[in-house]
Amino acid sequence: MDSADPDRLGAFRFLDLLGGEQDAAAELRAGLLARPARIAPKYFYDALGSRLFAAICCLPEYPLTRSEARLFATHGEAIAAAVGRGRLLVDLGAGDCAKAEALFPLLAPAGYAALDISADFLRAALERLQGRWPGLPVCGAAIDFTREGEWPQAVFVPTEAPRLWFYPGSSIGNFAPDAARAFLARIARACAAAPGGALLVGVDLVKGRAALEAAYDDALGVTAAFNLNVLNHANRLLAAGFDVADWRHVAFYDEDAARIEMHLEARREVEVRLGGATRRFAAGERILTEYSHKWTEAGFAALLESAGFGRRRSWLEEAGGFALFLAEASS
Ligand code: AVJ
Repeated sequence: MDSADPDRLGAFRFLDLLGGEQDAAAELRAGLLARPARIAPKYFYDALGSRLFAAICCLPEYPLTRSEARLFATHGEAIAAAVGRGRLLVDLGAGDCAKAEALFPLLAPAGYAALDISADFLRAALERLQGRWPGLPVCGAAIDFTREGEWPQAVFVPTEAPRLWFYPGSSIGNFAPDAARAFLARIARACAAAPGGALLVGVDLVKGRAALEAAYDDALGVTAAFNLNVLNHANRLLAAGFDVADWRHVAFYDEDAARIEMHLEARREVEVRLGGATRRFAAGERILTEYSHKWTEAGFAALLESAGFGRRRSWLEEAGGFALFLAEASS
């Protein structure tokens, strides 16, 4: 499934490393049969969901993307000096690749390895990107990188350049703290295994409830559409027969857990088919679709340390809403 075509100008390697739709269907079915029911947030990102997320990033209520970009605009030189130029930029959850591409002038990467679960969306984004950066070695991988296992070495081209792992946008917030630590520890081990490895990660910080809740329940309803669209994706993978109109978007901030929770709530009694089984949802019953954990600067620094990153630097927005961390493994 390596679609590299050396004869084509601007060709890039693309690896399809997704487990296949059967794994996804089994995981979705198990989550929907569980009580309470849940769907993992990675299922948001079908072709429409990836576009809706890109739209969310433009919403007035959703400052994360702009905050992160502003940090790069303000502290770019300091970040580039700390990171070093000529790295292989490894983009975890590349999406439309816009966040990484914005850093190319600053970081002058030796190569770009883009990983994302949304295969066709990533491939199309890389095709456009390669046209703008024809000399840059680029490799795409359709992969569920939240799964345990070896990182696919074939995406790390050029192989000899030190790797800068890039995990922007506060996607780390989708992990509960223990799972976040385990995921970061995987990256820390990869960083320690080769010289010069480092992680650049963006983190949304704890702030007032009103601002947080507006960011996940915008006036245009884009986030509601993004949340509800996961049912369309489930229908394609499972033939479950969800009717989007039966469900409503629910998002709230749980202050004790320091996380946004997104759910889909049944407007009425609903019955869907899940393979051989029937799942009945009572009116008002919810499906958990996402946690988005918020961190304090000190809390996230401690998390990085406990994951094996012995050296850390951070850059904070003046308003304190968002932070960038550069972390290097202790070795
Ligand atoms: C991509 C996980 C960072 O949690 O803010 C946006 C996803 N969900 N609006 C986030 C999301 C609802 C986003 N992350």
